[in-house]
Amino acid sequence: MAGRAPWEPVEQFEREAYSDYVKPHNVTTRYVYLRNHIMDGGNKMKNPFEFGRELGKSELADRESEVRSVLETMRDTGRLFLIGPRRFGKTSILRAATDQARSEGLLVLRYNAEAFPTLSGLASAIVEDAAKAIGGPVRRMDAPGRSEEALLAEALDGVNRLVSDSGRSISIVIDEFQQVVERGGVVAEAQVRAAIQQHEHVAYVFAGSKTKMLAEMTGNAARPFYRLGARLFIGPVPRTDFVPFIRSRFEAADFILGDEAIAAILDLSADVPYNVQRLAHSCWAAMRETGAREMTSSGVREIAEQLVGRDDPFYTQTWNRLTRPQQKALLALTSAGDAGLFSTKTLGKAGLPQSTMQTALAALEKTGVTRREEDRGAVQYVLEDPFLKVWLQLFVVRD
Ligand SMILES: Nc1ncnc2c1ncn2[C@@H]1O[C@H](COP(=O)(O)OP(=O)(O)OP(=O)(O)O)[C@@H](O)[C@H]1O
Ligand SMILES: [Mg+2]
Repeated sequence: MAGRAPWEPVEQFEREAYSDYVKPHNVTTRYVYLRNHIMDGGNKMKNPFEFGRELGKSELADRESEVRSVLETMRDTGRLFLIGPRRFGKTSILRAATDQARSEGLLVLRYNAEAFPTLSGLASAIVEDAAKAIGGPVRRMDAPGRSEEALLAEALDGVNRLVSDSGRSISIVIDEFQQVVERGGVVAEAQVRAAIQQHEHVAYVFAGSKTKMLAEMTGNAARPFYRLGARLFIGPVPRTDFVPFIRSRFEAADFILGDEAIAAILDLSADVPYNVQRLAHSCWAAMRETGAREMTSSGVREIAEQLVGRDDPFYTQTWNRLTRPQQKALLALTSAGDAGLFSTKTLGKAGLPQSTMQTALAALEKTGVTRREEDRGAVQYVLEDPFLKVWLQLFVVRD
C-alpha cells in the first residue's frame, strides 16, 4: 500500500474501513478520498478501533445472521431472547437491527433495563414513548397500590392496544432483561408472560448477559418464560471475520501486523470483542505515537501488559477480595486451562481438595470473575475479563 497514488482504486474492505471515519465528500466517487489528506502526517486519522460504546452495523465484524434474526423478529412481531456473555456485542446487535428496522419504517422502542431504578420507571417510559411514536394518549403508570411488575405488564398491554387501534405494529427491545427478573422475581415473569403472549401487534426482543440465568429462565419447563420465544445464543466473532477486520484497519494506516501479531491480539483477548478492540486500539495508538510501521506478537504482549499495568489498582482490588482457596483456584484455572482443572496434578499443585476447588469455582462464578461455558456437554470455566490472566501472569505468578 505504501506509495499508492491519490485516487487510486482500492479494495472493497479498505473503502469500508475508510468510510467509517472519513466523511465521503463525494459519494459518487469509487475512489478513496485523497490519502495524504486523510493521514496528514498521521494525525488526522481517527483510531479505527472503538470500545465501550454500542457500534452500528457498518462497524461490526460478522454478526450478520444475528442482526438478521433480530430484524426478522421485529418484522414478524415475534419474540426473541438474545443471550450471551458480557461484552460480546449484544447491544451492538440490537442497535444495528434497530437502525435497519427504523430505516424500513418500523417502530422500535429500545431500553436498557439497568438504566431504570424501578420497573415502574421502565413501564412509564415504554408507555410514554409508545404514545409519542403512535400518536395516542399517554396514560400515567404510577397508580398507587399497584405492584411494580403489574405496572410493567399493564404498560405492555396498553402498548398492544394502542398499536392494534392504529393498525400498526411496534417492537419493544429490552436490553439487560435479567434486571427485570431480578427485580420482580417469578411474579414479574408470570405477569409479563401472561401479558405478552396475547400481544399480536408487538414484537419483543429481550437481551441479557446473565447467560446461566436467562438460559434457565427460558429453558426450564417450570418457569413462566419457558418457550415463550426463540433463543439466540451469542458466541464469539469467528476468527475468519475478526482477522480481516483487524488487518484492514491497521493496513488502512499503513501499519503492518503479521498473522502472529493479530493472533496474539485475539489470544490475549480470548476473542472477547470488547477486549479485542481495546487491545487493538492501544496497539494502533502506540504505533502512531512511536511512528513504528510494524508490530510483532511480542509487541502486542507488551501493550497488553501496559494496559493491565494501568488497570493494576482495579485488578489488585479484585484479587484481594478473593479468599485464599479462590485465589488458588483462579491461578489453577489460568495455568492448567480448564481441561485438567480437577486432575490430581492440578489439584496437587494448587494444594486444594476437589470439593474446595468446586466451592471456590462456584464463588468465582457468582462474583463474576469467571463464567461457565457449556458446549456440547462439556463445561469450561473462563475468565469474564481475559486481561485478568495477563495481570496474574505479570504480577502474581512468578515461576
Ligand atoms: N461484532 C463486533 N465487531 C467488532 N467489535 C465488536 C463487535 N461486537 C462488540 N464489539 C466491541 O465490544 C464493545 C462492546 O459491545 P457491546 O456494548 O455491544 O457488547 P455487550 O455484549 O452489549 O456488552 P455488555 O455485556 O457490557 O452490555 C464494542 O464497543 C466494541 O468495541
Ligand atoms: Mg450491552
